[in-house]
Order: sequence, then C-alpha cells, then structure tokens
Amino acid sequence: MLMKIFPEKWQVYAGLFRNLLKARKNLIEVWPPEFYSDEFIKIELPWGAPIFIINHPDDVRSVMVDRAAGYIKSRSNVQTLKPLLGDGLFVSEGALWRRQRKIAAPSTHGNRMAAYAQIILDEAELWEQNLLAQPVAETDLSKSLTMLTAEIISRIMFGYRLGQGNEILYRAFAEYQASHGRVHLSELLRIPDWLPRPSMWKGRRAVRRVDQVMLQILSCHKSVERASEEDNLLDMLLEYRDEEGKGMAPDLIRDEMVSIFLAGHETTALTLGWIFHLLEKHPEVESRLHEELDVVLGDRKPEFGDYPRLPYTKAVVEETLRLYPPVHVFSREAVEEDCLRGNAIPKGSFVIISSWLLHRHQKYWKNPEEFKPERFLPENVDGQLPYAYIPFGAGPRICLGKHLGLMESVLILATLARRFEFRQVEAGELKPVGRMTLRPEQNIRVRVKVRNINK
Ligand code: HEM
Repeated sequence: MLMKIFPEKWQVYAGLFRNLLKARKNLIEVWPPEFYSDEFIKIELPWGAPIFIINHPDDVRSVMVDRAAGYIKSRSNVQTLKPLLGDGLFVSEGALWRRQRKIAAPSTHGNRMAAYAQIILDEAELWEQNLLAQPVAETDLSKSLTMLTAEIISRIMFGYRLGQGNEILYRAFAEYQASHGRVHLSELLRIPDWLPRPSMWKGRRAVRRVDQVMLQILSCHKSVERASEEDNLLDMLLEYRDEEGKGMAPDLIRDEMVSIFLAGHETTALTLGWIFHLLEKHPEVESRLHEELDVVLGDRKPEFGDYPRLPYTKAVVEETLRLYPPVHVFSREAVEEDCLRGNAIPKGSFVIISSWLLHRHQKYWKNPEEFKPERFLPENVDGQLPYAYIPFGAGPRICLGKHLGLMESVLILATLARRFEFRQVEAGELKPVGRMTLRPEQNIRVRVKVRNINK
C-alpha cells in the first residue's frame, strides 16, 4: 500500500537500504563516482538525522582539529572495537582518554626512536635470515608480515618476545575481525544501545585468547628485556599513580595493552602488504627503490641513521598510505551543533570522513589513481593540501604511533626489498575490502625471489 502511495520515495529508500547492507561487507565499494569530486555530501534517511560525508580538507580540519571537542568517536566505531579494546585509548573519550593519552605519550616520543629502530631492524633481519635459510616455494606474506610487526610492537611496548603467543594472537585477531569487522548499521538505523544484538556474543572466544597472552606478558613483566634504560609502556601503565596514590585498574591496563598492540601492528603490516603488491605492479617504482637502496646501503644492512637518507623509500610508504590507508574511515558523532560549508550539522548527527575518498579526490590530487611515489619527495610536496592526506588521522586523536609506524615501515621495507622480490602466486589486482581496516580480500600469497646484492 505504502509503495503505491509513495512509489518513488520507497524505491529510493529501498536502494539506500541495499547500499547500507552492501556497505557492511565493503564500505569503499558503495562510494559512487561523484563522491570522488563532491566536496560535501548529505544523505537523507527516511528516519532520524541525515548522514554527512565530509569531503573537503577545510572541513576535515574543522571536525578533527579546530572543533574536535564538538565531535566524539561514533557509536558504530566504538561498538565494533569495544568488546576487544574495552576502555582503551582507541575508543575512550573525555577525561579518561586525556589522562591515558598523557600517560602513554612518552612511549612514542622521538627520543626513543633509535632504540626502537634497533628492535625493528633485528626482527626484520631475523625474518630475512629465516627465509634465506629455509627457502620456500611460496609464502603467506600477509600473515608473516603481521607476525613480524606483532613481535616488534610487543618487544617495544612490553619488552616481551611473543614466540608461540604470536600465532595465538594472529588467530584470535583474525577470528575477531571475521565476527566484528563489518560496519555496524545500528547507528544508522538508530537502534538503541541497550537492544541485544548477535555481535555482542560473537568473538568472545577470540577475546579470551587475547587475554591469556596479555596475562602471560604481565606475569613475566619483571624479568624481561628493555628497549632502553627508560621505562617501556607497560612499566608506565603499571607504575602510574593518581593524586591519591591509586594505581591503574587491572582491567584498564589490559585494555591499553590490547589497544596499543592491535593499533601498533596490524596497520603497519597491512601497509607493507599493499606496498609489495604495488611494487610488483609498478616495475619502474621497484627499480627506482632498488637503486636508492643499492646506492645508500651498498652491501651493508640498513641502520637507524639511514632513515633520513632514504627519501624515495619513504615516499613509497607515503604514497601507498595514500592509495590504501589502513584506517580508511573515521566516523564521528556531533555532540554540539555545527555549520560546515554553509550546512547546519545538528547535534547528534553522524559524520563520516573517508580517507579513501579524500586520498583519491579529483580536485585535490593530480591523477589520483596513479601510483606515483615522486609526489611525496620533499621537492614536490609543496602544493599538497594538508588535510587531504590523513593516513594517521589529525588533531588530538591523531595516531599515537605516527612517527614509529612510518619509521618502522621504511626500515622493514628497506631490509626486505633490498634482499627479496615478492611475486603474487595469483596474478592480478588485489581487491581492497573496507571494513574495520582496509585489507585485501584474501591474504597475499607470494613466491620469493632472492636479489643478488653483491654485484
Ligand atoms: C602505518 C602505521 C599506522 C597507521 C596507518 C595508523 C593509523 C592510525 C589512525 C588513522 C588513527 C586515528 C583513528 C581515529 O581518529 O579514529 C590511529 C590511532 C592510534 N594509533 Fe595508529 N597507525 C599506525 C601505527 C601505529 C603504531 C605503530 C602505534 C603504536 C604506538 C599506533 C597507535 C595508535 C593509537 C594508540 C591510536 C589511538 C590514539 C587516540 O585515540 O588517542 N599506531 N592510528
């Protein structure tokens, strides 16, 4: 009956609902072509407030930096991660977030990078030596990069070698992704928080496994190595005392450990996976990268001091983060009324910033679809709009590990690309799937070719 009275409107709504369902599986697949040139998008829903997609660098700055206090992380974002991260840094808000961020901040300060670089290089070299000692016909690059970066973040932040625990964590996070990775619709559909939904129960086994490893790390804490003389993040969490002399609650320590661990390894592993995919597709970039590595390093291994001497290697990382930002969407809720591009943003609105769209926007980039690391060389970056490129976010919630993640990617890339060329077992483009993070549809399986570096 309703269809007869409002046929057109209902067709539009039916299409919208179909798109929302599609978005759950792969958000980037539903962005229509015009979103790559529009500057502001308002999607009217048949219920509740409209959704706003912020697609202009000035507005990105307003929401994430200048008026950040008026926006909080949205319910959909929090619901996806809360069962795993609890009240950890990635999802907390307000006074708790401010306090915890202040406590954790020294762990990624610039003065620690040299010590961290040593751990990164040691682990990358171990990875390299293992592969050289036991050559394999093919390997799961996604998995082995994830385990490499997991070992690195655990050693840096907790002073703990994961060993066997690494495989347990890998499986647990994969299981969690499979059950919780999809974009939540409850916020769009305005389903109240208190209503039970199946995702609440899913993934509990994965969380229990993660907790077992975290407990193991805590129980060994006193007897472990240190990256430097200074306290590591776990020391900082354990030693914290408030004004009344009270320590941090054990659950919160656990939440911060899982948050740093997850935020600090998966993103870097995904970045490296996309880099090796792009290098295979762009032999001219791979040759120029090899040239830089051969000239700067010759027949020696990379060191921390090489980081500023590898501008092209760094540009490869930055350009990959443009095309495949692991955190591809930022969803926020307006807690105050705002006005953007002359449009009223009512309090309670759901606001989306997609780095996938911004990084491929026709107006902000020349030939945005092309993989051109040169655009990030120091001599070419001048014309770039700062808030059109946000792989690490912006403003007060900017990635805590921005400098660490960038340095880590460059040093691992330098170590591995100097020694190996990876060739996908199944040729062709990898399909990017945008859920909790931007991942290839399937793990990347590769054949390994050893480069002759003693020419
Ligand atoms: C290439 C690597 C990385 C990328 C692309 C990346 C990206 C991001 C982005 C986009 C955010 C902001 C999310 C938002 O505003 O909703 C973020 C937050 C965060 N990242 Fe990273 N990250 C990387 C590496 C790291 C590393 C190595 C660490 C380890 C310390 C880390 C720790 C965090 C933490 C704790 C937050 C939450 C910060 C807060 O809300 O205060 N990330 N990351």
